[in-house]
Amino acid sequence: MRPKVFVARKMRDAGLNLVLDFCDADVWDQAMPPTRDVLLEKVRGVDGFISMLTDRVDAELLDAAGSQLKVVSNHAVGFDNIVVPDVTARGIPIGNTPGILTDATADIAFALLLAAGRRIVESERYIREGKWKTWHPSMLLGMDMAGKTLGIVGFGRIGRAVAKRAVGFGLRIIFYSPSAEPEFGAIKMNSLDELLKQSDFVSVHTPLNAATRHMVNADFLSKMKPNAVFVNTSRGPVVDQTALYEALKAKRIFAAGLDVTDPEPLPLDSPLLTLENCVILPHIGSASEHTRDEMARLAAENLIAGLKGERLPHCVNPEVYDRK
Ligand code: GLV
Ligand code: GLV
Repeated sequence: MRPKVFVARKMRDAGLNLVLDFCDADVWDQAMPPTRDVLLEKVRGVDGFISMLTDRVDAELLDAAGSQLKVVSNHAVGFDNIVVPDVTARGIPIGNTPGILTDATADIAFALLLAAGRRIVESERYIREGKWKTWHPSMLLGMDMAGKTLGIVGFGRIGRAVAKRAVGFGLRIIFYSPSAEPEFGAIKMNSLDELLKQSDFVSVHTPLNAATRHMVNADFLSKMKPNAVFVNTSRGPVVDQTALYEALKAKRIFAAGLDVTDPEPLPLDSPLLTLENCVILPHIGSASEHTRDEMARLAAENLIAGLKGERLPHCVNPEVYDRK
């Protein structure tokens, strides 16, 4: 019998076809995610499950699925939507999609550094609002990159890919990431405070966990330089948005660029949307055709390996293998 799986959103054919070839798959093809109740119903009796970052995977869901469940494959590199200990406790491997979305996400981080620093989106609005009357020596002035310092918080794959790009822009690069080694000429800082004190641009590339939740709070922002630009492409809850709003409103920092917010979607009445000096994107870090093909393919490969009882190519909780 073909394994039974639920795929929580129609993913790209590059991966979906692999799943359809191997499994009896129920694919959620609506634009909005399944509600919690529907999700709990859909996973009942499945052997495998492809989750999106919008689907919470926890004890309740695993119990609803049943003890035959062999694998959870997350269609994302981040896995803060999954309560990992709940899955590990049941001996079930979790897959994720690292590596292939590194460049796409680093590109968006750089796009935001430039957009926030050089007021790109505000400038575009300026034209559309009919404000462009003439050229002026002090019209829409922003921040240079060359010769300035970029501080990278979290020097994993994506952080390093941002550093690689920063070399070409003539930035001095520093990073804070206790277990990472220097690369691309980046200088390691011994503390976050030291990084914030020196940086003209700060870009965050940490996973979301208990230690990084609201890491960017009023204290963090108060240690940044007055003309610094802040960018977040990691996860929304890494930032205390009220504190960020206040810092931007009071111009205690120059500008911010966010590809991730808390919550997502960001409500239209969010005060952040009233600010000229905040650029916000709808979580498009990995949103390129090639990257989403690769993510779908990896998510399918993790799923199929788990269904076959093989080791997942990319496993978040390899300790499930040690115990067997
Ligand atoms: C996207 O945010 C991901 O984690 O893949
Ligand atoms: C990217 O793949 C990362 O985990 O940094």
